[in-house]
Parts: sequence; structure tokens; C-alpha cells
Amino acid sequence: MIVTIDGPAGAGKSSVARALAGRLGFRFLDTGATYRAVALAAVRRGLDWEDQDALARLAREVAITVDDTQVTLDGDDVTNEIRSYAITAVTHYAATNPEVRAHLVTLQRRFADDDNVVTEGRDQGTVVFPQAGCKIFLTASAEERARRRWQDLAAQGERLSFDDVLSGQRQRDERDWNRDVGPLKKAPDAVELSTDGLTAEQVVDRLEEIVRCRMTAEA
Ligand code: DC
Repeated sequence: MIVTIDGPAGAGKSSVARALAGRLGFRFLDTGATYRAVALAAVRRGLDWEDQDALARLAREVAITVDDTQVTLDGDDVTNEIRSYAITAVTHYAATNPEVRAHLVTLQRRFADDDNVVTEGRDQGTVVFPQAGCKIFLTASAEERARRRWQDLAAQGERLSFDDVLSGQRQRDERDWNRDVGPLKKAPDAVELSTDGLTAEQVVDRLEEIVRCRMTAEA
């Protein structure tokens, strides 16, 4: 069974997808981490962001692994580094590069293998796993999402103004919804859930209910 969770930045996908995977005993795949790892690799090599071919070549050269708890880049544990504000701000170069996307989609399918998996991102139910047995589209208002991101960054010791986080997020929303390749889009067969006003636990409860119901129907 593949469960896809797509939605805009800050809707709470990562934490609820991870918790849901734990409850179901499924593997968890954070696909944003693969785009972040490519961006970090480019920063480390001082790559010119305008050179799309070089970025695509780099994506194919580096070794990225993602498991339930750790992300590695060429053997280095980069789990925390890829979440910094600086890497978040440049990851769109990787996410809007068609060749990088094509390569990472192949990697993501390989990571999922034949296992039961909860996978989260922007295009999981539409492009990467259109055959998924259960598709969720998680949303929340822009202010609520920015507030959560701002709190996460503060917890990591990054002090930014709320307005900066909100405007950065609006920019990313704009890019996510409107890019030519792999845009954020709700799959027609996805269940949409707004997380406004719900605790993470309430969201996970609701998602678990949806998935178990689907599993029973398919059994
Ligand atoms: O979910 P996140 O914030 O970790 O995603 C990081 C970036 O990668 C963000 O710019 C959206 C992009 N992304 C994507 O284009 N496709 C995915 N499947 C996952 C993330």
C-alpha cells in the first residue's frame, strides 16, 4: 500500500506523515529532502544557479539516501543542514529543474520499492505514484502555515521575523503551484483535509481512519 500526502509548504505534511507511518508500521519517505540535498550539494560545490545542466549533472553524480530518520549526501549525515533557512531558500532551483526532477522521481520510486510506504511531497499522488492506494491533499491557511514554519525555525535557533517567513512562503507557494514541471496539484482522487485549528494528533487520527478504511475496502 502506498499512501501519498501532498500539499503546500508548512501544511504539516512531514510531521503527520511520519507519525502516520509509525502508527501503520509503514516506511516514511520525505521527498522534499531529496530536493534539499541536491541544493545543498550545489551550495557545497559553489555551483552557478543559472547553469541548469551542471545542476542536473550534479544531481546524478551525488549519492543521496533517505530513510525514516536520516538523510545522507555522499555519506554525510545532512538531516539537519538541509532544513536551514539558507538551503530552503535555494531548493527551488533543484525543484524547477526538469532533469533534476526526472532523476529524483526515479530515486523516490526506488526508495519506496515494494514496501508499504507513506510518502510526502508535492507530486506524489499525481506524478510519482499515480497508482497509490490512498491519496491525501493536506492544506492550511497561509498564515497558519507560516506561523508553524516560524516556530520550527525558532526551535532550530534561526531567529527571523514572522513577516519574512510569511513572504518567503508566499514566494514558494507561487513557485510550487505554477511551475511547469511537477507543479503542486491535487490529484482528482485525493482526499483533501485542512489542518487549520487541528492538532497534529487530530490530523493523524483522521488520516489513520481514512487509510484503514481504504485498506479494509481493498482487502
Ligand atoms: O516539503 P519541503 O519544504 O521539504 O520541500 C522542499 C522544496 O522541494 C520545496 O521547494 C518544494 C520542493 N518539492 C517538490 O518540488 N516536490 C516534492 N515532491 C517535494 C518537495
